[in-house]
Amino acid sequence: MLKLKDVNLAYGPIAAVRKASIDVEAGEVVAIVGGNGAGKSTLLKGIAGLMPVSSGQIIFDGEEISRLAPHKRVARGIALSPEGRQVFPDQTVYDNLTLGAYFRRLSNDALDAEVEEQFKLFPRLRERRDQLAVTLSGGEQQMLAIARALMGKPRLLLLDEPSLGLAPKVIQEIFGIIVSLRKSGITILLVEQMANMALAIADRAYVLETGSVILSGTGQQLLHDPKVRAAYLGISHNAA
Ligand SMILES: Nc1ncnc2c1ncn2[C@@H]1O[C@H](COP(=O)(O)OP(=O)(O)OP(=O)(O)O)[C@@H](O)[C@H]1O
Ligand SMILES: [Mg+2]
Repeated sequence: MLKLKDVNLAYGPIAAVRKASIDVEAGEVVAIVGGNGAGKSTLLKGIAGLMPVSSGQIIFDGEEISRLAPHKRVARGIALSPEGRQVFPDQTVYDNLTLGAYFRRLSNDALDAEVEEQFKLFPRLRERRDQLAVTLSGGEQQMLAIARALMGKPRLLLLDEPSLGLAPKVIQEIFGIIVSLRKSGITILLVEQMANMALAIADRAYVLETGSVILSGTGQQLLHDPKVRAAYLGISHNAA
């Protein structure tokens, strides 16, 4: 479904992603793990079209999208739930959700039906429908960010650090939702520093280090890889 071929992404003179080649098959959960500054968010921004590739190709459904505007990538079925949520703080939960479907030009009834679908997936958002997003807890804002991305009806969902700053119980809840989204047929590219949890649910994964893919394999292979365990899982974690 998605193929990155030797993709380079840079901030001016600073290379952030170097020659990344990554494949995502339809129906998979693919994880990208790596430490701070490894280039994970940059990679997702490149796929979403929020920053231009300096070289290399991004192919989605057999079509090269490397130079396509972000909104056209959304229209083709790619949605990003960005790092740090970035919900619109002074808009209600309902308005944040409808903005996620803005480009689809739905009737009000159709829009309400789709919002209702998100409320089924995230019941806590239903209770907070008319609350301003700024008043939500971190976990609720994360749910809103994911639900807003889903309002675009993506076939490929890019999730940037959905666990960031959340309590373990909420993280479990979010990961449960990711697993149920996969069951519903959405393909997911998941960026995470919580490498143990991401690898545990991922079909396949890539390890990024200073902008380069240094390892790849199935989630289970990487979960048990000594290098990954030492570098990203920490000795205090019992990932297995
Ligand atoms: N707007 C920017 N301008 C210049 N350099 C940037 C910018 N954003 C990121 N970088 C640099 O690009 C590199 C990759 O950053 P990126 O945010 O992609 O890392 P990350 O893997 O997502 O890290 P984290 O886990 O902390 O979110 C880092 O060296 C970072 O300093
Ligand atoms: Mg990041």
